[in-house]
Amino acid sequence: VAATIAPAAEALFAPAAPVAPKEATVLFGSQTGNSSKLAKKLTKKLEDQGLQVTIASMNDFKPNTLKNVSNLLIVVSTHGEGEPPDSAIAFHEFLHSKRAPKLESLSFSVLALGDTSYEFYCQTGKDFDKRLEELGGTRLADRVDCDVDFDEAAEQWMSQVVSALSVSAAGAAAAASASPATATGAAVESEYSRSNPFQAEVLENLNLNGRGSDRETRHLEISLEGSGLQYEPGDSLGIYPQNDPELVAELIEAMGWSAGEQVTINKNGDKLPLGEALRKHFEITVLTKPLLEQIVKLTPNSGLGELLEAGREQDLRAYISDRDLLDLATDYALKGVPASEFVTILRKLPARLYSIASSPSAYPGEVHVTVRAVRYEARERARKGVCSVHLAERVASGEALPVFIQQNDNFKLPQNSESPIIMIGPGTGVAPFRSFLGEREEAGASGKSWLFYGDQHFSTDFLYQVEWQRWLKDGVLTRMDVAFSRDTDQKVYVQHRMQEHAKELYQWLQDGAYVYVCGDEKKMAHDVHQALLNILVQEGGMTSEAAVEYMAQLQQQKRYQRDVY
Ligand code: 2AM
Repeated sequence: VAATIAPAAEALFAPAAPVAPKEATVLFGSQTGNSSKLAKKLTKKLEDQGLQVTIASMNDFKPNTLKNVSNLLIVVSTHGEGEPPDSAIAFHEFLHSKRAPKLESLSFSVLALGDTSYEFYCQTGKDFDKRLEELGGTRLADRVDCDVDFDEAAEQWMSQVVSALSVSAAGAAAAASASPATATGAAVESEYSRSNPFQAEVLENLNLNGRGSDRETRHLEISLEGSGLQYEPGDSLGIYPQNDPELVAELIEAMGWSAGEQVTINKNGDKLPLGEALRKHFEITVLTKPLLEQIVKLTPNSGLGELLEAGREQDLRAYISDRDLLDLATDYALKGVPASEFVTILRKLPARLYSIASSPSAYPGEVHVTVRAVRYEARERARKGVCSVHLAERVASGEALPVFIQQNDNFKLPQNSESPIIMIGPGTGVAPFRSFLGEREEAGASGKSWLFYGDQHFSTDFLYQVEWQRWLKDGVLTRMDVAFSRDTDQKVYVQHRMQEHAKELYQWLQDGAYVYVCGDEKKMAHDVHQALLNILVQEGGMTSEAAVEYMAQLQQQKRYQRDVY
């Protein structure tokens, strides 16, 4: 009897109780920080609507609490060949495992970040979207996939999510008075950002390599004076480059355009002369499948349509992987399309991110980056990395460079300055470690540190050699092991040095060391990971499965952090 009375009694009291605010959980999986930034923005918007929001990085979220979540918003990028970013690996795996709970009462929506120049575009977002549906969830808004220039699509997704979740004005007011602003984005932010970069003065621009080196690595010192921009070691600097003026001129020639023609560069209707627009505003060095599809529409007789036919995916991938618009214009009959139409289908020239090489405490008001000029030859043409060569050839000290700070929460010094750190950064991958050690020096941190560095030649390619040696002498750096790959008959790489010191390295791990890897992803970071597994098997007596699990645990505890590209 009591059981039948209880609901009625509750109903009677209900009006007196405050309206419980609707709840939502925002989870992000970020590699470079874009997803984390968008997740924070969404959280703010939902809170403004009176929702009670929990926001977390996927690697901080306890997956077994998922069944208590009623509204789940996921913002996630895709990494490499369709893989989740490091911080999303464990959660992605959990959801796709047998341990994943049924989620029949869950409403969800996914914002997927990616790049149409990759084959597995937005794959991680697609995975989450599909899996949450399989587990019984209901979409409260359709998934949105964003290309490199994500702002507009992301805004649209957010407004759909916000309107789907909005509570009544009364509920919002009650909730707002009950829980004033939660702790998201509370810090005062600079007015400058990715969408409004700061025109920063370049103070220095030096080549770090010695004469005779195959490499050209630029060290740039940039002033942030007056910008209000702040950063921590591990963050990145976003730089907006310009296309090579010679390449632009050749493209204009090949297309039969004229550099002085005024073209519209954005939805606001702003105009620039074509030459300037192609230099500063549009991407002309990357081909994507969606771009080619648009070009075919503009040039039905160019012959390009054949490359897009079903069954030729392999050929298409091979073709676009290493060609630019000038190649395309040369290979197919594109001449004759009006520039004003053509530019409407081009992507915006995106900013490039570089790991910051300076400690903000050691260099207040400045930011340093380490940039290797990318130059190679392909099909009888000299190819140049857009941003790196722009910085190497066309940015002198005294000039202005459009920059912003990209926070990277996934590459941070341990909170405890006594924790040992192991830093693995061959080539320009060493940049953030100059920031780490500068910071530890300024703070008088007592934790041990160990640097593994490598490049081609000792005499010409030892980036920041003098600084590492000073830090070694002063005890800021405890150990350094270097691998110069082309000074000996046999190649030696950082992972060989790690292997040589396996016993000690294992001991450092046992002592709670944090492991940081920065630099090339496909080859170096992969081989370094393998070396770490070997060391665990060899020195820790683990099975290979146990070693894999150990590394996953380390990653989950943020003791294994990677900034790889
Ligand atoms: P290499 O150019 O002689 O092959 C920085 O680029 C350094 O990383 C160079 O010494 C380069 O050597 C080396 N490197 C190349 N492939 C690597 C890999 N798979 N693992 C570690 N280092 C690598």
